[in-house]
Amino acid sequence: MWRVQLFKLNYDEQEQQAVKEALDSAWLTMGQKTLDFEDAFSVFLGNDFKCLAVSNGTAALHMALLACGVGPGDEVITPALTFIADQNVTSFVGASNMLADITSMEDWSMDPQEIEKCITTKTKAVMIVHYAGYACDMDRIVDICRRRNLFLIEDCAHTPGADYKGQPLGTFGDVAGFSFFSNKNISVGEGGMAAAKNLDIYKNLKNLRSHGMTVPSFDRYKGRAVSYDIESPGLNYRIDEMRSALGLVQLKKLDAANQKRKELVNHYFSRLDAVPEITIPYRHFSRGTPNYHIMPILLAEKIDRNKVIESMKQDGVQTSIHYPAIQQFSAYKNRVNVTPRAEYVSAHELTLPLYPTMTFEEVDIVCDALLKGLS
Ligand SMILES: Cc1ncc(COP(=O)(O)O)c(C=O)c1O
Repeated sequence: MWRVQLFKLNYDEQEQQAVKEALDSAWLTMGQKTLDFEDAFSVFLGNDFKCLAVSNGTAALHMALLACGVGPGDEVITPALTFIADQNVTSFVGASNMLADITSMEDWSMDPQEIEKCITTKTKAVMIVHYAGYACDMDRIVDICRRRNLFLIEDCAHTPGADYKGQPLGTFGDVAGFSFFSNKNISVGEGGMAAAKNLDIYKNLKNLRSHGMTVPSFDRYKGRAVSYDIESPGLNYRIDEMRSALGLVQLKKLDAANQKRKELVNHYFSRLDAVPEITIPYRHFSRGTPNYHIMPILLAEKIDRNKVIESMKQDGVQTSIHYPAIQQFSAYKNRVNVTPRAEYVSAHELTLPLYPTMTFEEVDIVCDALLKGLS
């Protein structure tokens, strides 16, 4: 249907083989592949971090809030420009929240000054998102959370392979939640990872993931235990062996895939830098190494975005919007504060196709279609 679609999987026979091995093992729910995936992810983040593979990124973020004891009566500061999961999980634990605006039209990360302004006596946690795989200002955000005694939760759905001053994103806060949804830098279909350094928080996360059971089914299958206790209530946010097997392969491919994304993004820059109707966020500065999760651009105010989207669609190019303003969703109208900079970006942002198997010719097709749509 599309000449260039927004995202394509970076899969080959390695993923097929990995899933086949998982199926052949005849043990489908969390088992050895999941343990291996968690170990590999811990090494990837730095061994101080303990990792728990889960069914999706939203589950990891929901568990993160619960593991930090956030609940009714508490306030959480969440990003104004993010996927709705951050807002939804905050609502689900019964907390209220304040949205922190982005920094500027070039820097779409949460503004530390705005975070500080949102703090009240009820604030218990700050949830940040590293938009598009570009690091937030972690020196300032970590300092705020330490000074004000707040939990810091990193939404790392966009970050695998990205760092801040050389330190992997996801290792600055109390808990990080990664997503391995299809269009992410690590794709398994549906999947995620929760990571924590503090042992008590890690234990809370582990209890929450699987009904509060003290012993997983795999240990009983292996004869290592006969029964289990429930020490605290839990959920079922488990991953399965097929997805963990995919995650292991995708993790191995990550460096090369992110490098290819970088080359493609540089080609986009060479085609779009001189276009006056476009601003590219994070174009002229960096707080670390990004992983080029998506290719966002900001259209000039006078440009009719819907017309551009429709024109590009006619030329066979799929685009997206990251993200619609939270204030515009029926569920959250009047429930969240106004954040003018993020709302402006929501109204004028356009996401162009980007994926590691994309060709430079496909980038040219996208740019030609975009320029035509702008004219
Ligand atoms: C910024 C952000 N946060 C959270 C999520 C939720 O992840 P999942 O779809 O794996 O639940 C996503 C995924 O789309 C995301 O992009």
